[in-house]
Amino acid sequence: MDVSQLMFRDGLMKDERILVTGGGTGLGKEMAEGFLKLGAEVHICGRRGGVCEETAAELMEKHGGKVVPHACDIRVAEAISDMNDEIWSKHGALTGLVNNAAGNFISRTEDLSVRGFDAIANIVFRGTFYMTHDIGTRWIQGKTKGSVVSILTTWIWNGGPFVVPSAMSKAGVNVMMQSLAVEWARYGLRFNSIAPGPFPTEGMSKRLAPDADGAQRMDSGGGNPMGRVGEMHELVNLAAFLLAPGAEYVNGQTIAIDGAMYNASGGNFSMLTNWGDEQWEAAKQAIMATNEKDKAKRTV
Ligand code: HXC
Ligand code: NAP
Repeated sequence: MDVSQLMFRDGLMKDERILVTGGGTGLGKEMAEGFLKLGAEVHICGRRGGVCEETAAELMEKHGGKVVPHACDIRVAEAISDMNDEIWSKHGALTGLVNNAAGNFISRTEDLSVRGFDAIANIVFRGTFYMTHDIGTRWIQGKTKGSVVSILTTWIWNGGPFVVPSAMSKAGVNVMMQSLAVEWARYGLRFNSIAPGPFPTEGMSKRLAPDADGAQRMDSGGGNPMGRVGEMHELVNLAAFLLAPGAEYVNGQTIAIDGAMYNASGGNFSMLTNWGDEQWEAAKQAIMATNEKDKAKRTV
């Protein structure tokens, strides 16, 4: 990200300690960088411990400050609790959480196995709840304020053909956020969500656009009313706005940032209806090769 494009003053987040799940790569890494630049202490987690360590070192070398990497699988409630024990005891209470970690791949729903469904739902639906519950409970017990931002998709409003486990799980998280915004407002806790359109990242492009036309579909802004994809600083500015002091009365909202793509064309994968067996098989092979490559780097 070009940090000169941040909208906010230096030091805006100097009293914040924020955990970004999946902060070692992609959008999570961009948000971690933005919060760091604005003065926050940032914690990042993922299953590839080495990737998180490299990201933390890279960002601190660039900007100074403090980025703490954690190897943690958010599908495992005990691992979440252990990580948060360590954060609270060694560093102090978090002030913010960004639920960014996710798993996804395109597939015809009739081709999904139960394990395929679980692979996504266990990260997005269950893992996001475990994390929010663990941290929210600590905030309530410690009587400290806190703010949660969840990264969703626009499919929560109109469905996600060919990404059904992700669409279902993200829609569930949206309802969790809306519910807790009301239930836990009395404890000084806030819950807002961001629904991004396409912001090309390796993790997304390799799983949602593994075919030859994928780049045109996802990475070039084709079909977007603004004729382009999102720029990272735009997403980071929105996340910083929601987490930073000064926006406390914003609670229970889900904000799309997609160049109006969802309004124009649905912003989902309905165009894949014309794919045949051969295209689906090739996509699956390509996606599974990416999965295996990433899995080899997991440390938890
Ligand atoms: C059908 C598939 C498949 C595919 C995997 N599976 N890929 N089925 N089509 N393309 C099936 C496998 O066959 C297996 O089922 C089951 O899923 C579990 O596979 P594993 O590889 O063992 O899963 P796991 O190690 O748990 O990895 C989780 C993952 C992986 C979700 C599959 O992709 C991952 O770790 N992703 C993290 C990063 C990521 O997805 N980033 C993208 C975020 S983009 P069987 O029955 O064969 O055993 C995003 C939205 C973007 O979220 C929105 C854009 C607008
Ligand atoms: P990405 O780089 O693949 O990010 C996903 C991150 O989640 C990875 O760092 C991954 O790290 C982590 N993760 C996955 N499973 C995990 C687990 N069980 N425990 C801990 N961490 C886990 O993809 P991205 O594009 O940046 O996506 C980030 C978020 O934005 C996701 O919520 C995605 O749905 C959302 N989004 C993206 C776009 C887009 O266009 N890019 C659009 C809409 C929404 P490990 O593999 O090391 O665990």
